Parts: sequence; structure tokens; C-alpha cells
Amino acid sequence: MVSPVIFVVLLGTWFSSAQAQTVGVAVPLSPPSSAATLNPSLLSLSIEQDRWPEWVGTTSSSRFLLNTLDNLKLRTGHPPSIRIGADSEDHTDFDPSVQFSETVFPAITTAKPYPEASNIVVGDGFYNIVRHLPSGTHVISGINFRDNNLTAAFLQAQSIHKAFSASGVQVVLDFIEIGNEADLYGSTRARTGTWNVAEYTKEWTAFAQNVSAVAGISSTSSTKFIGGGFFGSGHSSTSFSPQGLFASGILNSAQGKLITSISQHHYSGSFCSGADGLLQTMMTKSTIRSNLNPFVSDITATRAKGLDYVLGETNSFACHGAPGASNTAGAAIWTLDYMLFAGQIGVSKVYFHQGIGYRYNMIQPATLPRSIIDGTTLATSLHPHVQPAYYAAIIATEAIGTSGSTKVVELNINDARVSGYAFFEQTTLKRAVLINSEAFTSSSSGPRSSKNIQLSFTGSGTAPRTMTVKRLAINFADDDHGLTWGGQSFETVDGTISGTLSVQTMNVGSPVTLQATEVILLSFN
Ligand SMILES: *[C@@H]1O[C@H](CO)[C@@H](O)[C@H](O)[C@H]1NC(C)=O
Ligand SMILES: *[C@@H]1O[C@H](CO)[C@@H](O)[C@H](O)[C@H]1NC(C)=O
Repeated sequence: MVSPVIFVVLLGTWFSSAQAQTVGVAVPLSPPSSAATLNPSLLSLSIEQDRWPEWVGTTSSSRFLLNTLDNLKLRTGHPPSIRIGADSEDHTDFDPSVQFSETVFPAITTAKPYPEASNIVVGDGFYNIVRHLPSGTHVISGINFRDNNLTAAFLQAQSIHKAFSASGVQVVLDFIEIGNEADLYGSTRARTGTWNVAEYTKEWTAFAQNVSAVAGISSTSSTKFIGGGFFGSGHSSTSFSPQGLFASGILNSAQGKLITSISQHHYSGSFCSGADGLLQTMMTKSTIRSNLNPFVSDITATRAKGLDYVLGETNSFACHGAPGASNTAGAAIWTLDYMLFAGQIGVSKVYFHQGIGYRYNMIQPATLPRSIIDGTTLATSLHPHVQPAYYAAIIATEAIGTSGSTKVVELNINDARVSGYAFFEQTTLKRAVLINSEAFTSSSSGPRSSKNIQLSFTGSGTAPRTMTVKRLAINFADDDHGLTWGGQSFETVDGTISGTLSVQTMNVGSPVTLQATEVILLSFN
């Protein structure tokens, strides 16, 4: 028998879903024990090193890049950390007669309109220009391990050391990374014979012995080694994984003791030409969690050794991003939820991979003559610009703020499309981010759905009375430009902010609208 009370509830649900469904969100007033302390540089960038000189500039720094990084530094007090390396790190040779770099690229294809170099030769200038990054930037610099040429690695490490220790350089070399995705060396025939984590550890240790000597890496130096950097993880003691590295005894040698952080790479898949429904799948709350949760055991194993853990190279989809997904406004939703969830499970920095002309870039620092979607020549070249995912960087850094020790906790929201995070400074609730990951695209039929977020407060502390609401405005999830954050745009000629800030102030007890494909930042007063 259906009681009148249940009937009312059902009617209420039916009625509100035709308009806006109410979603209750309980927000703790003080950080629960499960809250994670966020690194101010949670948002970090991994840069494909073949075109590194075009990122930072050769004879002077790139004003566009500096502005886009300064926008982020302004929000947390720290610039994003930068990794210089990736696939082309393992195709790099050193020649002292080269000023910056010389590169050879494979043919352009529809799938990869901007391929990475098959060969790169660098000289001292290539590493010296790191000084063009914002002061205080922390850097990971990669050296070639794949070619198994100790002389080449030695020369690169020597040049890196010189560049960072030169007088007046205000950029810090945190780590040297020996090789990129070495777990794949066996399958690419870069190594013949047995290639497993034990063999890797043996060869890594030999390289590290030489590199530590030439680059001055020691127990007392500020530069250390970052370990791993594998494409995948087998999560076991016999696989390429943190567990496998530790079981192989990598930390036991004098060189291994200089590893203070473990890096893991991850892409949610590889779609070189896009696929139906990919945009929604990418954005979906459960997809993001199922992509990251498998690394929890690796993070736990790493932290148990007292080491830091980062996603040293990651982005939505390999193949430089899926067209129509990685380059769109939906990617801002994906980037934000992915990064904050990673922070919540103990990843200290998320290095989003960037190249020149890659679809998943936040920042396009160089002029692009070809379409990033299919490589066709553009009638008008695109000047340096930010892509939609950049807004996620802005929002995350704004939510983290300048405290230096902001804590985050994911809010337990019973809705497949809404995720949320609360941010605390000291013991006080300061902000919350709410994300609606339902894709509203230019081909969606019917009206745009929305949710009414109804906050309640739990735990000890004084409940705030009012809050400001700042919105990431997106017309369609498949748009590749035209977003605004609090009414302001970063899609400007020089990468600086434009427009007038627009936020709402409301009582915390009033429901807040959160549309499909929208993000709001609530700042509590
Ligand atoms: C490192 O390797 C280089 C090049 O092979 C060699 O000249 C140098 O002596 C080595 N240094 C150490 C400490 O092994
Ligand atoms: C190793 O690297 C050095 C320095 O770039 C180069 O001179 C040498 O030819 C390389 N050796 C091999 C076998 O490629």
C-alpha cells in the first residue's frame, strides 16, 4: 500500500525533475580526518621537451607563457611546477655545438597534427632558458635512458646542473628523471633480452650513480631523483609499479636513497579520432573515479616508504587528446574533477601533459598554422591562446588559495552527475567547489537541465551565513572557446584576465542553481 507520505515524496521528485532537481549537500564545518592537505602546486604541467624553446622563449622569455603562469601563481602564491621531458626526453642527444636544439619530426597525420620529435639534439642553451620561467618555479628535468647511452645521459645531466646552478637563476631543480615510461622499453625493442622491474632497477642504479655524481645529487642537495614515471602500473611486487620498484630493492642503494618522490603516468584511454559519447564519458564522475582509484594502493605503498607521489604525466586521452572532447569546455569539467579527486586520494601534484598544438593543452604558447583537430592548414594561423581546460587550472588554484596548507575533502553527494569538494584553512571551512558533469552539447535536445544545490552544515564550528557564488559559464560542453569565470575571460591576446568580475552573494540556506556542464565556487563568509 502506498502511504500518502510516500506519495507526496514521489510526486515531489517527479515534479522537481521536470524543473530542477534538489540535491542536498552536507558540508563539514571543520576538516574531517579524511581531509587531505593540498600542495599549492597541485596543478602542475608536464611539457613535451621537443619544442621547449618555443614554450619559454630563447633570447627572452615568452610574455604569453609568463602571463598564463602568473595568473595561477597569483592565486596560490606558487607557480605551477613544471616537468620538462616526456617521450622526446628519450629521443634526446647532447651536442655542445648546438645553441638551443635541433629537431626532426615525423610526417603530420590527421591523428597527430603536431607529432612529437623523433630526434632532438640539444646544447647548453636548451637548459639555460629554464630561467625564463617565473621565479620560484620547481622543475623536473628528464634525461634519456631509453637509448642506453651513458655518455649522452651524462652530458645532459651535466648541462642541466650547470643551467640551474648558474648565478641569478631563481628556478629550482627539484628532480632529475631518468627516462620516460621505461616500462614500455621492452615492447618498443629499446631493450632486448629480459626487461622487467628487476632489470630496470639494475640499469637505473648504474645510470643514477653516474648522474648523481655529475649533477651534484646527494643526501644534502636540494635536487633529488624522481622514481618510476611508468606508463602503467601493475600494482604488484613483481610488476612495473611502486610496489615492484620497492620489492626490487631500488631504495636500498646509495642512489636509490636519493629518490624522494614516485611518479606515475596515466591517460583515461586513447582515442585518436574521437568517438560517440566520448565527451560525456570523459566528464562523468564515475569514470574519473574508476580511472584514479586503482592507484590508491600504489599511493599507500609509496607513502609508507615516506616518499611523495605525483601523477608526473597525465591528461584525458593519449594521442595528444581526443578531438571534440579533450579540446572542449567539457575538458574543463574533467580536468577540475580529476585534479581535485587526485588531490583527495593523496596525489601531491598532477602534471597535465602539454605540447605545442596538442588537443588537450591548457595553454597553446605558440602560433599554430594547422588545425589541432585534423592537421589541415588554417586560413589564419592561431595566435597563442588558452584552451578551455585552463579555466580548471584557474578554479583549482583559486579554491586552494594562498594559505599554503589548505585541506580538501570530497563531499559525499548522492548524485551521479554532481561532485563537490570542501576547502579548509586551519580548521575553518572556507570554500566549496561543485561540479555538474552532465554534458549539455550543441546537439543536446530539450532544455538544459539543472540542479538546485541545498547546503547543510555538519560537525563542529560556526556555520557561515552568507556566501559568494562564482560561476564557470559554458554555452555548450563541445565549445572550444568562449568560457567565462565569474564573468571574466582569459582568452586574450596576452593571456591576462579581461572583463569585470561578477559574483552573486546569497544566504547559505538558499538553494543554488547548478546547470548541466557548470562549475560553481562558493566562498563562505
Ligand atoms: C659517467 O659517464 C661518463 C661518460 O661515460 C664518464 O666520462 C664519467 O667518468 C662517468 N662518471 C662516473 C662518476 O661514473
Ligand atoms: C652516445 O652518445 C654520445 C654523446 O652524444 C655519442 O657521441 C655516441 O655516438 C653515442 N653512442 C652511440 C652508440 O650511439
